[in-house]
Amino acid sequence: MSEDVTDLIMQDHREVESLFEKLQREPEVRAGLTPVLVTLLAAHSRAEEAEVYPAARDEAGEKDDVAHSQEEHLLADRLLAELSECDPFSAAYENKLTEVVDAVTHHVQEEEETVLPGLRDRLDDARRAELGKAFLKSRQEHLGDMPQDITREEMRRQAANADIPVGDKDKQALREELDQHADS
Ligand SMILES: [Fe+2]
Repeated sequence: MSEDVTDLIMQDHREVESLFEKLQREPEVRAGLTPVLVTLLAAHSRAEEAEVYPAARDEAGEKDDVAHSQEEHLLADRLLAELSECDPFSAAYENKLTEVVDAVTHHVQEEEETVLPGLRDRLDDARRAELGKAFLKSRQEHLGDMPQDITREEMRRQAANADIPVGDKDKQALREELDQHADS
């Protein structure tokens, strides 16, 4: 199996797309599969934010693309938290799922067209494999987490990735600041 971080990220993207398809087509699987989708995306995003975005920004010179991708994660987290609160048999769920699919599909496409090619071009194979290991370890540690389980330290990392100055704000103030930057 490839350890290249860009391959590992793309594998997750394909997995998420297949979960989207099932959730859209088969309402009867929603109650069971929604937590799977939400934690997979939360773990994937925390691992990217901790291990991949800092390297893309500092080593591959992708400051603006990373900031934009990070802002899209903020939106995805909020939508996923809202989806996990919806009754899976309600119209509200249906609408929220559409919002999640649209936002995440857009994000995945942009990440695959900007951030990932930059990593492939500017980091060597050994570094991408090292990042792949770090990504998998972090992802594993976060599987089971929901977006709401994010820590203050992780929120500070999000702010740094998105280039948002936050000083030493507490968790609530950080949440409010980051929410203003949640973007599609
Ligand atoms: Fe991402």
